[in-house]
Amino acid sequence: MLRRLRAGAPGRTRHAPGKGRWKGRWRPSFSKTFPLPPGFSVPVFADNEMPAQGYWQTIESLCRRHGIVLIVDDIRHGFRLDMRGSHEAFGFRPDLICLCKVLANGYPISALLGADSLKDEAAKVFHTGSYWFSAVPMAAALANLRLMKEMDAPSRMQETGRRLLNSLVDLARDYGYDLKVTGAPSMPYLRITDDPSLMLHQDWCGECTRRGAYFTSHHNWFLSTAHTEEDIRRTLEIAQDAFRVVEEKHG
Ligand SMILES: Cc1ncc(COP(=O)(O)O)c(C=O)c1O
Repeated sequence: MLRRLRAGAPGRTRHAPGKGRWKGRWRPSFSKTFPLPPGFSVPVFADNEMPAQGYWQTIESLCRRHGIVLIVDDIRHGFRLDMRGSHEAFGFRPDLICLCKVLANGYPISALLGADSLKDEAAKVFHTGSYWFSAVPMAAALANLRLMKEMDAPSRMQETGRRLLNSLVDLARDYGYDLKVTGAPSMPYLRITDDPSLMLHQDWCGECTRRGAYFTSHHNWFLSTAHTEEDIRRTLEIAQDAFRVVEEKHG
């Protein structure tokens, strides 16, 4: 498909992965592809640090200058920042965007969106699958997109995330822990920093999970529009119990 698309993108002879944290690491590969402009280095993203102001604009202009198709993998983050795609929140324009799970609230469907200039070439690629024309995921996607737009899902998830995360950080501080939160509040990454063994953080997540708040220790968390005030309240209660337990165990 990419070989085809290059043909449809005048001057574009290469491709590079755009946004993405897949299998736990950002994968910026530009420094291996061509020299970077003076003063610009590819950041090593620790935790889920957000890119600095202007980062994506530099990447975008590098892609234009060097004939690279800029592709955004928005599978995980799609609609958690902006209903038009994460690139809108960062203010740049990719050539291709890949969306998946978020489209139909869990029903199996994915979509590759792109610039008009790439459309004809993409349409020439023949690929098929047994379940591609299932009506249910299509209907679910349409309904889901309409509902998410109506309820302004990105703002709602960001707001719920902010409330939960601020309270968790405060709670952690009460027990003497520094809970580092990175990434967008709708898809955060959390880590207790004073934890060289990583066991303290894992234990805390384990104690929360045991009590019914399913915290994952080394992966993004995902806020949902289904999370309620009561969910947040109960989660904080559980988190506090868990801090009490790990404080006794680890000090
Ligand atoms: C960012 C990202 N890209 C791609 C994938 C792959 O999706 P799939 O398992 O449907 O191929 C995932 C899966 O979680 C993902 O999180």
